[in-house]
Amino acid sequence: MPGRSPSSRVHIIGTGAYVPERIMTNHDLEKMVDTSDEWITTRTGIKERRVAAKDEAASDLASKAATRALQDAGIKADEVDLLIVATATPDMFFPSTACFVLKTMGIRHAVGFDVSAACSGFLYALETARAMLESGRYKTALVIGAEKLSSITNWSDRGTCILFGDGAGAAVLRRQAGAGGILSTYIQSDATYTDILNVPGGGSRTPATPEVVEKRINTIHMEGKEVFKLAVHKMISATQEALKLAGKKDTDLTLLIPHQANLRIIEAIAERVNVPRERIFVNLQKYGNMSAATTIVALDEARREGRVRKGDLVELVAFGAGLTWGAAVIQF
Ligand code: ACO
Repeated sequence: MPGRSPSSRVHIIGTGAYVPERIMTNHDLEKMVDTSDEWITTRTGIKERRVAAKDEAASDLASKAATRALQDAGIKADEVDLLIVATATPDMFFPSTACFVLKTMGIRHAVGFDVSAACSGFLYALETARAMLESGRYKTALVIGAEKLSSITNWSDRGTCILFGDGAGAAVLRRQAGAGGILSTYIQSDATYTDILNVPGGGSRTPATPEVVEKRINTIHMEGKEVFKLAVHKMISATQEALKLAGKKDTDLTLLIPHQANLRIIEAIAERVNVPRERIFVNLQKYGNMSAATTIVALDEARREGRVRKGDLVELVAFGAGLTWGAAVIQF
């Protein structure tokens, strides 16, 4: 909040990311569905994506990203007292993916839980962690976005299978003195559109049966065009709302990191915000849409490429099923 004393702000003090080794190119997809590298490239900007191994779950990706984030922050795992995983592809219905991460990382004295907000999940988890750290009850948080979307992808639906990829990113958060920190977080939901992007089967509404699996009702269903229009509209509004809350303008931004769903969505946003194209981060050509992992993997990559320096103002903005959308303005 603009009025909050800098000494009480929550800061991102480290980031990390992990993507699975296996690369699936557009040419690989040409062998699976009736599509072409040319179609996918011109309609989405995506060239390749990562696909997790059969025995690799969301928590495995998450733990690797989180380990790297702790190293980056110079923090030991046992200092973490809050761990939130944003995911639409949990290892199991329960225990939470966060609990599996705590187990893998040997963290014994932390509260762990998952947040479900599809592609906006990391922004939802960031706002949650920020509020919990500001309450003073928690000191060090790991906030993770992790997805194994390949596990809910219909590999025979060319309208969706070309879009998604697997990966994880993590941030270490602490409330500490000093300039900068998370200046604002903004999240919203609108349940009018639950039907245009969902995984209809496999949950309590339509539990998994042989028929559900055979008809692939337990995979991603999407009305692409409708989602596209809403994504542009909601991400522009979230970008401006979070800036307003931070007391900043789009011209102040060093880097805008939008959700990486489709290059044409990013280009439509670029036309409507006052941020030069070279300050809008794009890595979807390598990873596709990794849902909740997308913005935090991008932030980590931007930092490692030297595109985020001390004092720089960065905004993350995302949009996803629900609908859900959100943004965060962070000064490094
Ligand atoms: N290869 C070749 N042709 C294809 C493919 C493909 N992979 N997919 C669709 N087509 C065809 C269609 O059948 C259609 O053919 P027709 O005209 O003969 O009927 C034609 O291409 C045009 O299809 P559209 O769906 O109109 O293509 P569009 O330009 O809208 O692009 C896309 C589709 C890429 C899915 C786009 O709508 C999009 O990106 N939407 C947003 C997706 C998104 O952001 N999802 C967010 C998910 S967030 C979360 O929470 C998981």
